[in-house]
Amino acid sequence: MWRKNHLKSIRKEKDEEYALGKKLVIVTSLKDIQLHLKVIVLFTTSLMIWFLFLLVFSPKRVSNPIRVFLSTPPAECKDNFSVYIYNLPSKYNFDLLRDCTSLNIYTDMCPHVTNNGLGSPLPQMGSSWFTTHQLIAELIIHARIQNHPCLTEDAHKSTLFYVPFYGGLHASSKFRDPNYTTRDALAVELVEYIQEQQWWKRNSGKDHFMAFGRTAWDFMRSDEVPDFGANKLLNMSPVKNMSVLVVERHPWEGHNQYGIPYPSYFHPSTSSEMVEWQNNMSYIDRIHLFSFVGAPRTGKKKVVTRDKVIKQCEESSKCLILKCGHGPSKCHNPREVVKVMMRSNFCLQVLGDSYTRRSTFDSMLAGCIPVFFSNHTAYSQYKWFLPSDPTTYSVYIDLERNHSIRIEEELLKIPMDEVERKRRTVIELIPTFTYAHPNSTSYGFKDVVDVALKALSDHVTSLLRSPTLLDLA
Ligand SMILES: *[C@@H]1O[C@H](CO)[C@@H](O)[C@H](O)[C@H]1NC(C)=O
Ligand SMILES: *[C@@H]1O[C@H](CO)[C@@H](O)[C@H](O)[C@H]1NC(C)=O
Ligand SMILES: *[C@@H]1O[C@H](CO)[C@@H](O)[C@H](O)[C@H]1NC(C)=O
Ligand SMILES: *[C@@H]1O[C@H](CO)[C@@H](O)[C@H](O)[C@H]1NC(C)=O
Ligand SMILES: *[C@@H]1O[C@H](CO)[C@@H](O)[C@H](O)[C@H]1NC(C)=O
Ligand SMILES: *[C@@H]1O[C@H](CO)[C@@H](O)[C@H](O)[C@H]1NC(C)=O
Ligand SMILES: *[C@@H]1O[C@H](CO)[C@@H](O)[C@H](O)[C@H]1NC(C)=O
Repeated sequence: MWRKNHLKSIRKEKDEEYALGKKLVIVTSLKDIQLHLKVIVLFTTSLMIWFLFLLVFSPKRVSNPIRVFLSTPPAECKDNFSVYIYNLPSKYNFDLLRDCTSLNIYTDMCPHVTNNGLGSPLPQMGSSWFTTHQLIAELIIHARIQNHPCLTEDAHKSTLFYVPFYGGLHASSKFRDPNYTTRDALAVELVEYIQEQQWWKRNSGKDHFMAFGRTAWDFMRSDEVPDFGANKLLNMSPVKNMSVLVVERHPWEGHNQYGIPYPSYFHPSTSSEMVEWQNNMSYIDRIHLFSFVGAPRTGKKKVVTRDKVIKQCEESSKCLILKCGHGPSKCHNPREVVKVMMRSNFCLQVLGDSYTRRSTFDSMLAGCIPVFFSNHTAYSQYKWFLPSDPTTYSVYIDLERNHSIRIEEELLKIPMDEVERKRRTVIELIPTFTYAHPNSTSYGFKDVVDVALKALSDHVTSLLRSPTLLDLA
């Protein structure tokens, strides 16, 4: 029970922390402008050449040359599944975005819902970088599936049914509503609506799924535990027939919940960008043994470990700390965060907010080996995305059990070739936990959405083959 209480107060800090960071100044340097000019000139020239080509060889198609030039080649579905998107009444998704100022009681979400949830561009870091909000995955996933090669309009033949409810955004707009009935209303209506659909009835919803950018705790209010702002969506029995993707699953009760990575800042459209980034991260000079990016927490029981970790980092000359205080700080600037992580061999991922942290994925994106202090920060969460053997890509330090363990000593004990091996695995994993740019259909690597859809389809196939499995789960 203390756990849920704890999560309540901390979850709010998580939102506030982010609110403080949004005053990011984006400066486009002269160099960038020159680059843009070059790109425009190059683009215009190629467009003219193409135009001439069309004029000479194919006069009939000149009526729409732009479309021919701009559309990406249609990618084909290489997997043996298909996904159908419910055309929900817009009150369940797009209408919520119109009211983006009140989508989160702690922060204005308007800048974060732009660009299909990628947020504002970060041109200083490259064209595929965005100030993506940590709790926005549901928007990006919706956009990605809408543009996915395995999307089908033929529900008869579909393997998977995606219910695009922006439940996380809706939940965070209602945290302070004291009236449970109004807090739950939209979720309850959605569940009623979906059960009425013919495709639900075909398999009792077992081939249906939803995806939320918030933790499962935000949808699991029950009568036995104190109110911590959540609604009851995931505790409703029809929803238990569905699969639910969340950035943090309930480690003990989330039988139908599957952990998906928090979105980071890099959303490439092509595999060449991805490979270039992976190469850069392989060769970069890492001058710090370890680092920590985050805020101290006060008071709560679970937080003892976090404070101990911060203290150890501060006391070590081999640890770089980027502390998030109140007010604007470097720790809210994606560029500063990534810079610290890409110069470090190990990145401490101590729980504090909830069990999981967005920072885990930011650090692995920067090729930094994550150090965990709880099994539930990653190992019990992201089974579809991370290797089953945690020692291949991470370090586990059981500080809870033995408070006198010195992190620095433990990390120095790891032989250099093992460090190299872990780092290589982390860098190889980057595509898997990346959200590719939703506008790109031929990005040439398997991203979060590709991996999740494939895993869901395998899961649903086996569920429908042996119906009793669900009852055993
Ligand atoms: C897709 O292929 C995999 C592996 O061959 C198989 O296990 C799965 O049942 C297939 N899924 C569907 C929907 O046909
Ligand atoms: C993606 O494409 C849509 C429609 O073509 C466009 O409105 C949108 O701005 C694009 N998004 C991004 C992030 O470039
Ligand atoms: C909560 O809201 C519902 C619906 O708006 C209303 O019928 C009910 O009276 C409210 N309950 C309380 C305790 O205010
Ligand atoms: C959920 O699945 C069970 C069978 O596993 C079925 O009996 C039940 O009716 C389903 N619930 C809904 C709301 O469809
Ligand atoms: C990789 O590093 C090179 C050289 O520093 C830089 O020019 C390039 O932009 C980097 N690529 C990416 C994708 O960050
Ligand atoms: C974490 O998981 C490992 C492997 O399953 C187990 O040996 C260990 O006891 C767990 N640690 C805690 C604190 O639960
Ligand atoms: C706790 O860790 C310290 C430092 O690594 C070690 O000396 C000690 O033996 C450990 N205690 C237990 C009970 O494992």
